[in-house]
Amino acid sequence: MYIETHAHLTMPEFSDLPLVVERAKAAKIDIIINASFDLESSRQAVELTKRFPRYMYAAVGIHPHDAQTMTDESFVEIKQLASNKDVVAIGETGLDYYRNLQPKEIQQAAFRKFLVLAQELDLPAIIHARDAQEDTIRIIHEENKGNLRGVFHCFSGDDKLIQFATEQALYISFAGMVTFMKADNVRENVKNVPLSRLLLETDCPYLSPEPFRGKRNEPAYIPYIAKRIAETKGVSLNEIARVTTNNAKELFKV
Ligand code: NI
Repeated sequence: MYIETHAHLTMPEFSDLPLVVERAKAAKIDIIINASFDLESSRQAVELTKRFPRYMYAAVGIHPHDAQTMTDESFVEIKQLASNKDVVAIGETGLDYYRNLQPKEIQQAAFRKFLVLAQELDLPAIIHARDAQEDTIRIIHEENKGNLRGVFHCFSGDDKLIQFATEQALYISFAGMVTFMKADNVRENVKNVPLSRLLLETDCPYLSPEPFRGKRNEPAYIPYIAKRIAETKGVSLNEIARVTTNNAKELFKV
């Protein structure tokens, strides 16, 4: 079995959701966690947990691209949504200086508030960090009161961030990029992440793994990512399935 730790099945790309779920189940995906990017997708992710009980779980939060929508009202509602028993994480949250769609100060302020909230509610944080490694490390250092749990999703950092994640007991998740021909740097990272810290995700509908690159991504493609990770680490596919499932259960308590 596998756990898909980061999907966006609330998006309009998934008008065929029942079929997507059928294919995911056939591919041995036993649990799907939907990550959110704003208030509306947070509400929808919670709705999906009701439509697919004990199969879908939700993370609620505001993506750095949408950090300007972080008002007092939206923050309060996200906090309320987070009290739902099927909300298992806060996120996405973090910093993205690559696309840099919001001023850095606004991204940082929202990131800090969500790191505090995650610890207050004892939920893990799903952290999106892109081209913002130094500030990500600094802010986590400043906001971690000793009980921060979480994951760097769709990991694109370097050795230093892997080292930091391991010290802070944070997990590292890889998506379809690990299968891309030119992504030797991502596979180098896979080699350096201990099995005990590793998670799987698709980040669908984005970033389809080979051989589906360029098409819509979906949770049923998790085994393609797992297979490439297994080859890269020189362990069996079963071992990757087993450890990543255990890690996801440990982190998200699903
Ligand atoms: Ni995402």
